[in-house]
Amino acid sequence: MSVNDTAEPTRRDFLYIATAAVAAVGAASVAWPFIDQMNPDAGTLALAEIEVDVSQVAEGQSITAKWRGKPVFIRQRTAEEIASAKAVPLSDLKDPLARNANLPDSADATDANRTAAGKEAWLVMVGVCTHLGCIPLGQQGDFGGWFCPCHGSSYDTAGRIRQGPAPQNMAVPAFEFISDTTVRIG
Ligand code: FES
Repeated sequence: MSVNDTAEPTRRDFLYIATAAVAAVGAASVAWPFIDQMNPDAGTLALAEIEVDVSQVAEGQSITAKWRGKPVFIRQRTAEEIASAKAVPLSDLKDPLARNANLPDSADATDANRTAAGKEAWLVMVGVCTHLGCIPLGQQGDFGGWFCPCHGSSYDTAGRIRQGPAPQNMAVPAFEFISDTTVRIG
């Protein structure tokens, strides 16, 4: 038997073992959501609603909170960012709907409808690109808002899709300011 004859089965064995390991991991990750849904423990329930202290978020700054396993961008917008979002005619928007869980589904995507009354400087939205779910980068792209590098979607300073393949504005979750500096999300 030559060296090659013995080496070949060894490589095949390795490939077989590696494939089996990947399959086992895949099965485990499919099983978890079912377990979570049937037996929500205290940790899972607590994450359904979060309170975020935004007292340290100055104008022009953002933080990212984690809510239900997703990033939520919380930004105190600058006066220029708000003005630029308000100046956009609705007819220029690719997605005309506010996508704001606090408003009716039919609400249009004005800047005011993307925020909370009396708190228009604050943008609170799920930081997930509506194309295929990447996390966009803040204050980048052609519209001064967010840019998704995965396939080149640009969002404006109100988180509305302006260019690229993403079909919808980034989602505004149910939220409210329960004090001047605390946002409850969920
Ligand atoms: Fe953002 Fe495709 S996932 S552009």
